[in-house]
Amino acid sequence: MAENEVVETSEAQIAVHWKEEAYYYPSTEFIAQANMTDKSIYERMSLDNFPNCFKEYADLLDWYEYWDEILDTSDAPCYKWFKGGKINASYNCIDRHLAKNKNKTAIHFVPEPLQEGYAHITYQELYVRVNEFAALLRDFAGLKRGDCVTLHMPMIPELPITMLACARLGVIHSQVFGGFSGTACADRIVDSGSRILITADAYYRSGTLLDHKQNADVAVEHATKDGQVVDKVLVWQRYPGKYSAKTPMVDGRDFFVNDVLKDYYGARVEPEKMNSEDPLFLMYTSGTTGKPKGCQHGTGGYLAYVTGTSKYVQDIQPEDVYWCMADIGWITGHSYIVYGPLANCASTVMYEGVPTYPDPGRSWRIAQDLDVNIFHTAPTAIRALRKLGPDEPAKYNYHFKHMTTVGEPIEPEVWKWYHKEVGKGEAIIVDTWWQTETGGFLCSTLPAITPMKPGSAGPGMPGIHPIIYDDVGDVLPQGAGKAGNICIQNPWPGMFMTIWGDRDRFVDTYFTRYCKDPNSKDWRDWPYLTGDAAVEAQDGYFRILGRIDDVINVSGHRLGTKEIESAALVVPEVAEAAVVPVVHDIKGKEPDLYIALKPGFEASEELAKTINDTICEEIGKIAKPRKVWIVKDMPKTRSGKIMRRVLGAISNKTDVGNVMTLANPEIVEEIKQMVQR
Ligand code: WTA
Repeated sequence: MAENEVVETSEAQIAVHWKEEAYYYPSTEFIAQANMTDKSIYERMSLDNFPNCFKEYADLLDWYEYWDEILDTSDAPCYKWFKGGKINASYNCIDRHLAKNKNKTAIHFVPEPLQEGYAHITYQELYVRVNEFAALLRDFAGLKRGDCVTLHMPMIPELPITMLACARLGVIHSQVFGGFSGTACADRIVDSGSRILITADAYYRSGTLLDHKQNADVAVEHATKDGQVVDKVLVWQRYPGKYSAKTPMVDGRDFFVNDVLKDYYGARVEPEKMNSEDPLFLMYTSGTTGKPKGCQHGTGGYLAYVTGTSKYVQDIQPEDVYWCMADIGWITGHSYIVYGPLANCASTVMYEGVPTYPDPGRSWRIAQDLDVNIFHTAPTAIRALRKLGPDEPAKYNYHFKHMTTVGEPIEPEVWKWYHKEVGKGEAIIVDTWWQTETGGFLCSTLPAITPMKPGSAGPGMPGIHPIIYDDVGDVLPQGAGKAGNICIQNPWPGMFMTIWGDRDRFVDTYFTRYCKDPNSKDWRDWPYLTGDAAVEAQDGYFRILGRIDDVINVSGHRLGTKEIESAALVVPEVAEAAVVPVVHDIKGKEPDLYIALKPGFEASEELAKTINDTICEEIGKIAKPRKVWIVKDMPKTRSGKIMRRVLGAISNKTDVGNVMTLANPEIVEEIKQMVQR
C-alpha cells in the first residue's frame, strides 16, 4: 500500500463529536511583556507576501554572507531557503552571545538523583566545551564537513554539546532517541552511513543507573552485519573519570571521550561557513513501511524558523527560564530545547529523568528551584502528572507565564487541569501542532494575540497556510465540521529538505497525493500532506484528530505499526502480526499486538513473552505491547488483507461493525471472547 493512502482505521470519525470550547484570553500582564503583540503579523505573513515575509525570521540570525534568493523552487518540492547565504548554527547558538552574555546560564542541567544537585553551564563554558569536542571530532575521529555521525545519547548536557560541536564542523548529526534499542540504532547507523557512533556509558531512569553502553555493542554488531562498519565508538561518561557500565570497552574501537579530550584542552575551532541549504541534522521518524525515514533538515531555513517561533510563540526573553520537558532525541528537543532557545540566548533547562521521580511533586520543585517561568511538555506527561499528583502544583511556589503542549491532541479536560492547576490560572497555553518533518510549529495561537481554545491547536502560524482536502481532492470549506486531510499550501523555512538518500520517497509520501502537476516548479502545485486528519472551525482554528496513516502515538512518541509488526515477525513461530492502537488514559495510545502462528505451533504464555521481549529488543521499551494476543486466525478481507479496523474495535471494546463480508467472520466472535473476557 502506498504511504499516502488512507487506511480504514481513521481516527477522524471518533473525534469530530467533540464539542466546541469557549475561548480563554491572555492576561494584560502577559500581553504587556510579550515579544509579539502586533496583530499585523498575520497580514505581513499572508500568502500575498509569500515568500518574502520570511526575511523577518532570517534577520534574527547572524549570517557570514547574506543570502540573495529567499526561496529557490527550481527542484520543487525540494526547496532551498535563503540561497547564497552562509551561516553556522553553532556560532548563532553560542559565539554571538558571548560579548554580552558569557556569564549567563545557557543550560541548567537537572540530574535525576536528588543528591546530585543542579549544574549550570554558562555560554562561555558551553563555548569552551563545544570547541574542545569539535577539535576532537575533527582530529581524533576524522570527521569533516558533510559527514554524518550517529548519536545515541541520553538527556545529559554532553548531548547538546555534541550536537553543537557537529554543527560547528558542518558534520550532520543524527541523534537516535536514547530509549531506543541497539538494533533500532543500528538501522539508523546503516541508513545514514555513519562510521562514528557517539554514546554515553549510563544514565538514570526512575532511580536506576542504566547500562547504556551495551546498546552500542549491539548497534555496532548489527550495523556491521548490514554492511556499515563503525570505526570508533566515542563514550561519554555519566560520571567523568569513572566507567558506569558493565559491558567492556572494545580495544581500538571504543574510547572514553573524557580521556581523549585531554589532548584538546584549550582548542578552538573556527565555525565552518555552511551554505544555508547544507544539512544540519537528520531525525529519523516512523513511516508506514518498516524502514524509518531520515528527515533531512537544512541549516539556514531551519534555524531561522525555530529561532523565530521560539521568540514569538514560546515568548522567550532574556530574563526567562525556559523548561521543555521533551527528550532531545525527538524533534521537539532539537528545535525547542537546543536550537531555538539557544539561538535566542535563553537559559534552557534539561532534566535527565522521569518527571514523577521520586514523587509527583518533582517537576514542580524543579520549577520552583530554578524559577522556571516558561514550561513546555506533552499531553502524555500532563496526564501522568494529573493522575499521580492532581494537587501537587499548588504546593510549590513557582509561576509560569507561558505553557506549551505538543505531540498529540490534548483532551479539553486535561487542558483545563493544565491551565488551572499547573498554570495556576495565570499562564497562557499554546497548543502547538507540528511534526518531525516540519522542523517547527505549523498551527498554534500567538500567545498575546490569538485567544486559546482547549482542544484546538489554533490557526496556521504566520506564514503557514493550512488547507483541508477530502479523499477525492476537494477542499473542505472552513467550518464544515468535517474531518479531512490537513495539508500546508506553501513551503516554509523549517520544513525538511528531503528524506536522506530517498528523494522519491519524500515526493511520494508527502506531495504526490494532492500534487497538481508533477513537473511543476511552482510551489503552489505542491501542497504538503501532513498525514494528519483535522477539522477547521468557523473561526479558522484547527483541531487535529490524529494520523491518517497507521502510526501510533504512544506517550507522544511516534511508532509505526509496521515497525512493531516487523519486529514481531522476527520470532520464528510468528506468521502474521497486526498492531492496533488502544486508548490509554495516560499514554494516549498503546499498541495491542495480534499474532497468528505458523502451522504446527501452539500458543503459550512463554511464546507471548518471547514476542514481547523481541519487540523491546528490536525497537525499545516504548513499543512494548499492552498485550500479545495469539489468535487462531486474523480477520481478513476476501483479498487477504488483515482487518485492523476490526481488531482495533475489539481492543477498544467499540462496535466492530458489519463483518459479514469478511473471508472468516466467525473468527471475530472468537477473538472478542478472548480479548473482552
Ligand atoms: C501529532 C512532534 C495534536 C500529529 C512535534 C503529528 C499533534 C505527529 C500535536 C508528529 C498537537 C503533534 N495536537 N496532534 N499539538 N503535535 N501531534 O513527528 O499526529 O514526533 O503528525 O513531532 O504528532 O509527531 P512527531
